[in-house]
Amino acid sequence: MRTLLIAGNWKLNPASTEAAAALADDVKNGLGPATDVHVVLAPPFVFLSRIDQALENSPIGLGGQDLHWETSGAYTGEVSAPMLVDVGCTHVIIGHSERRHGMGETNEQVNAKLKAALAAKLIPIVCIGETKDERLGEKAEAVLLEQLAGSLAGLTAEEAAGVVLAYEPVWAIGTGLTATPEQAQAVHAFIRRWLSETFGEATAARIVVQYGGSVKPDNAAELLACPDIDGALVGGAALKAADFLAIIKAGQEVTARGKS
Ligand code: PGA
Repeated sequence: MRTLLIAGNWKLNPASTEAAAALADDVKNGLGPATDVHVVLAPPFVFLSRIDQALENSPIGLGGQDLHWETSGAYTGEVSAPMLVDVGCTHVIIGHSERRHGMGETNEQVNAKLKAALAAKLIPIVCIGETKDERLGEKAEAVLLEQLAGSLAGLTAEEAAGVVLAYEPVWAIGTGLTATPEQAQAVHAFIRRWLSETFGEATAARIVVQYGGSVKPDNAAELLACPDIDGALVGGAALKAADFLAIIKAGQEVTARGKS
């Protein structure tokens, strides 16, 4: 069984370094020293160094929410992969729908960012997902195929094995609407089939595919129990330590039980 990865995407929150450090402390203290699921926190860039300090001596990884594909130069406002590594990051989120749809990020850009992350030995969390209109228009699979092929273009099987994917139906993000476990599992199985056809079955079996979109303590257990769902990318519920810890606990229970 793939090790589950529960990641908290804090987005543009919280409002201060102090609040960010307190949230990280609460997660760290609630989790304790050992965990059989992987846990990552992805705060805003400006808090990364402080959160890295807060997470010292804990198994929790640290993630950026984005990066630029260049390592240096005239790119105002951007942050590079080596800079993320320098402040303690182990992971980086790439191609979140709020960047794809809110800021026009393309599959080509996602692909360039992914390659920059891999070159810096960051674990990329590459987000894909269809909008409500695409799902209603029965275009979800076509969109996902385009995002998968475009975002992962040019990767070797070995490189692909180190990528984390996050399937986040855009209509479920921050809306309180969650894909049912059946809907999510069907898409995850579809993604796994594409990975298998593209990179081979052995590689596809190693790739962690998270689900994201209104994951909460009360729906996490069912989602995480699905055979092809290997974790969660959590937005809103990651801002409350108790909720995030409850989602991690659901992952630990699924891990202890094993999946069918
Ligand atoms: P949400 O966000 O859990 O608030 O829906 C998930 C995400 O955007 O990664």
